[in-house]
Amino acid sequence: MHPDIERVLLGREEIQERVKMLGETISADYRGKELLAVGVLKGSVVFLADLLRVLTVPVELDFIAVSSYGASSTTTGVVRILKDLDRSVTGKEVLLVEDIVDTGLTLKYLTDHLYQQEPAGLKVCALLDKPSRRRVPVTIDYLGFSIPDEFVVGYGLDYAGRYRNLPDICVLRREIYEARE
Ligand code: XMP
Ligand code: MG
Repeated sequence: MHPDIERVLLGREEIQERVKMLGETISADYRGKELLAVGVLKGSVVFLADLLRVLTVPVELDFIAVSSYGASSTTTGVVRILKDLDRSVTGKEVLLVEDIVDTGLTLKYLTDHLYQQEPAGLKVCALLDKPSRRRVPVTIDYLGFSIPDEFVVGYGLDYAGRYRNLPDICVLRREIYEARE
């Protein structure tokens, strides 16, 4: 195991099983329709890559990148868009794919942003949820796992840009992020 990791929270087999189930549910719900999957960069890419391959409906793909709000804007949830969608989602069946929902501020901002373009439908798929941290109510239509309030990395999730390549979802040792703060 990587020396910066305290323990594995969700192992690769467990993740794959859950992703397969999510893909089956989403495919059934969208049967006969065409889907536009919107991945939130960068954390969702590993999850999205696996999810896409278990979907059986036609899927288009787009990405959006946002900056995390600074300390001063945590109350307003103002998020800056670093890379917007290539094309408008107007009239499309959109599935927004996130790695993790924490306070909910990012997701709230993103769904508001997408709704302004009047999609035919908008649903949210998140791999992880930390419900104890929620500050604004948000709806997650398809959820992988609900997890306790611990900082996790791996399977696309990072700390300071690192650990995204770890195949399991792991709890990072406290010393690693406390040393940096
Ligand atoms: P909010 O608070 O807006 O934030 O729901 C969601 C974003 O916060 C980041 N985040 C994490 N990233 N491990 C991570 O690697 C975590 O445990 C974690 N908790 C929150 C993440 O960027 C997410 O999109
Ligand atoms: Mg993220």
